[in-house]
Amino acid sequence: AVAVAPGDVRVLSGKTRELQGPPSLPYIVGGDVCGIVVEADDTTTTEQQSSKINNHDFRQDDLVVAMFNIEELGPRGAMAEYALVNTKVCDKVPDGVSPEEAAAVSSSGLAAMAVAQCIQKGDRILIFGAGGGVGSYLTQLAKRHGASFVAGISRHPQRILEPPLSCDEAVDYTQENPWEKEEWINDPFDLVIDLIGGCWIELIHHSKSSGKGGMIVKTAKKGGRFVTMVADDPWFEAHSFWKATILFALLPAWRAIYTRVTRPISQLPTYSMVFLQGKREKLTEALSLLKDGTIISCLDPSSPVAFTTEAVQSAFRLQESRHAQGKIVVRVAQK
Ligand SMILES: NC(=O)c1ccc[n+]([C@@H]2O[C@H](COP(=O)([O-])OP(=O)(O)OC[C@H]3O[C@@H](n4cnc5c(N)ncnc54)[C@H](OP(=O)(O)O)[C@@H]3O)[C@@H](O)[C@H]2O)c1
Repeated sequence: AVAVAPGDVRVLSGKTRELQGPPSLPYIVGGDVCGIVVEADDTTTTEQQSSKINNHDFRQDDLVVAMFNIEELGPRGAMAEYALVNTKVCDKVPDGVSPEEAAAVSSSGLAAMAVAQCIQKGDRILIFGAGGGVGSYLTQLAKRHGASFVAGISRHPQRILEPPLSCDEAVDYTQENPWEKEEWINDPFDLVIDLIGGCWIELIHHSKSSGKGGMIVKTAKKGGRFVTMVADDPWFEAHSFWKATILFALLPAWRAIYTRVTRPISQLPTYSMVFLQGKREKLTEALSLLKDGTIISCLDPSSPVAFTTEAVQSAFRLQESRHAQGKIVVRVAQK
């Protein structure tokens, strides 16, 4: 099974070609994959020697899950009957977890786990993109990480209120502007999480137009925080490392510093950008959360998608629309 992610769409779009490839054409899409080992490399690196699993532990017929090839930056080559995966970010799938669930969790689950680290005990949190690939895991993890109240933004509010996402409150942004919701302005959030892109710009806009005390998130002085995983434009273009550095290092660093330096007088919360940690230990942790039922992989109603050209093309169109309800997963084959 192969899970589709926004990164796959970006690679296919060519907007980040110089950074994420593809290095050559024809190019096979797909990065997050679960499959059966046909052949395992029998060499072991020093790094692997110090970790619990080395290449020798992967044996023929093992069911394994792997994340997109982090060494080559972009998602690569998984949407096929056979795929070469990086064993550094690969792990065995525990019994009881399906290939589709495992493929879905591989980078989105890890991304959600990285954001969940920002939650502090007792936080009231608001998640933009609560029903998406990352959000569907994050909503399930939030209370475990100490959140006292979880609100989500989605055009399917009922879905995110129901288990397993179980948000305490949901706002359909097509019906109501969450930035102007009076109850939230009167009782602002400790933490706002942006999984859609552009929320910081929106926040600045509302902080200017609302004057004093009119924000849905607390100021930095009162402990308010803003965390994002996304550039201002979710389909950003970056044709050089310099552009990527501006987008993912300089601009976030400037915002992080500015909001901390101006903390005593600012109307803004502190800003942080978070990245997923592509480490096997994290993948192992995500798989054990799936196995013990702490989290469930929520698949979009279209999934499992058939492994045909038309079906995969429409899966990519759905991912590009940014309105998948959870993860889109293609079932390449069935044992
Ligand atoms: N930094 C990292 O390491 C890292 C790692 C993983 C992912 N990411 C990024 O995180 C982002 C989220 O990933 P994902 O897999 O969760 O994406 P996704 O599955 O496409 O979800 C996007 C969500 O955005 C919501 N949305 C779309 N337009 C909206 C709007 N105008 N207002 C409010 N909500 C809107 C959608 O909800 P509705 O359907 O309800 O509109 C959907 O739930 C992506 O940009 C991805 O690249 C970053």
